[in-house]
Amino acid sequence: MTSQPEQSLWHRLLETRLTRRSALGSAAVTAAAVTLPVTLSDAQAAANNGAPVVADPKERISPHSVPTFRPIEPTTADAVTVPAGYRTQILAPWGEPFTDDGRTIGFNHDFVGYFPIDMLEGGQSSTEALLTINHEYVNPLFVGGNTQERTPEQIQAEMREVGVSVVRVKRERGEWKIVADPRNRRIDAFTDIELTGPVRGAAVVKGATTVKGSVGNCSGGQTPWGTLLTCEENVDGYQKAWAGSGYEMMHQGWVTEIDPFDPEWMPKKRTGMGRFRHENAAVTLAADGRVVAYMGDDMQDSCIYKFISRGKYDPQNRAANRDLLAEGDLYVANFGNGSWVLLDYDKNKKLQDAKNGDKPLFTSQAEVLADARAAALAVGGTPVDRPEDIEVHPRSKDVYAALTNNSKHGNFFGQIIKWTEKDGDAAALNFVWGIFAYGGPQSGFASPDNLVFDAYGNLWMVTDNSDLGTNPIKAYHGNNAMFFFPTEGPNMGKAYRFAVGPVDAEMTGPVFSPDGKTLFVAIQHPGEDTEDINNPTSTFAAKPGTKIPRPTLVAIEGFPGWKA
Ligand code: FEO
Ligand code: CA
Ligand code: CA
Repeated sequence: MTSQPEQSLWHRLLETRLTRRSALGSAAVTAAAVTLPVTLSDAQAAANNGAPVVADPKERISPHSVPTFRPIEPTTADAVTVPAGYRTQILAPWGEPFTDDGRTIGFNHDFVGYFPIDMLEGGQSSTEALLTINHEYVNPLFVGGNTQERTPEQIQAEMREVGVSVVRVKRERGEWKIVADPRNRRIDAFTDIELTGPVRGAAVVKGATTVKGSVGNCSGGQTPWGTLLTCEENVDGYQKAWAGSGYEMMHQGWVTEIDPFDPEWMPKKRTGMGRFRHENAAVTLAADGRVVAYMGDDMQDSCIYKFISRGKYDPQNRAANRDLLAEGDLYVANFGNGSWVLLDYDKNKKLQDAKNGDKPLFTSQAEVLADARAAALAVGGTPVDRPEDIEVHPRSKDVYAALTNNSKHGNFFGQIIKWTEKDGDAAALNFVWGIFAYGGPQSGFASPDNLVFDAYGNLWMVTDNSDLGTNPIKAYHGNNAMFFFPTEGPNMGKAYRFAVGPVDAEMTGPVFSPDGKTLFVAIQHPGEDTEDINNPTSTFAAKPGTKIPRPTLVAIEGFPGWKA
């Protein structure tokens, strides 16, 4: 879908952040090419013996394919370490009050959405925004102190620490800070959320049309009409951990749409997008204007999906766009033949014939969607090595996915794959694919997780090898880190370490401001492996006078910006 100049606000922002094809992009690239001839020819690259080519950090105008920073070394420091010339600022740490009624920022930040404060009027503010912060889970040691049997009070406290924070922020006198706004709010495990799509009112949810809460909020996505898609990932364990609370597992594991600009609009679970361990939702537009979301099921030997809306995006009709994800088709990727297979009970006989013993596996589309993983495997979806984040390249429209690792198969380092849809159309039913980058000692990274493209189409990736225990990664990787990858030119697919997170943390949810001058990234679970609360393994972002580490956002500045 080509963007037109008269198209809306957010679509223009989307063009800047996600689908950089604008005149601005061309001008910036041209200027860079004229003043800084740093893009190397193949011959120059060959002469360099394939070694990384690094721009002079003083020459900060970002060209394609060359980092503008001096890559840093691995470290195990309890800090966010960034290259010379860059600086970091703590923003919105766990526990900070931010609403009129005294609610506080939740625990374990993950996806971060950046919604320019003026976007509904067509603006793209890079100094003021509503940020949405996913809060994936709590560490009960830090929240209530009991890691095994929780008290009812601790369960209630944990249920208020998950979900999403909508936070107005502003950059003033060189500092980002939270500012008051009636739209500042928390969505937590108690918030009323409407079920939409085929599972609404179905037997698999005992007829429910409205449910309580959104939990397991991992990564997510932003829509062209300015809503958040928050993805419910690890939702099973709460049935036991929160026993007696009324927690209902089948009400979780969906994609929930939230309008940060309109607190009166009840959040919606989009059941047509399936129920599984939803990592993310990467939103783009098909050639005909239908909305496409790419999604991963983050579990060993699970699949990659895409949802195609029935209706088309109308840049002039935000109200109608907010209903687009209620109806559409869900597909699963078959990497064997490069095809998308429809998960529709009425149209796919394999779903009708699928058996569990001698009983039918499914009897309705609602049942297919509620156990999309089983449906995907029944129709030939390809199990892959834990799909984490997925993003669409802003210019090529290739789709990149992080397959983080799979210890079942000895894949400890992970890969980033990419695929090209037929005719470059996101609604196509065929694609070709390949490996973009391999983790391992040769590349310096392991376990790729969240991805984000910059306006030039360079890929930024954060790692999460927290769960892998002792293995060769510890010897070369240091703490979880953030890497930069050119996606074209002589350094295509090479990893350059930009930042390293604190001890026992992962960096999550990277997002650039529209001007490219601020990178927001979350620091999730610092000090995760702490056993003695009096002796935490990290004290990152602890309140003055205390040692308890706090999950938080970090605003990283020092970037030249897209327009430099
Ligand atoms: Fe919550 Fe798959 O990371
Ligand atoms: Ca993740
Ligand atoms: Ca992760």
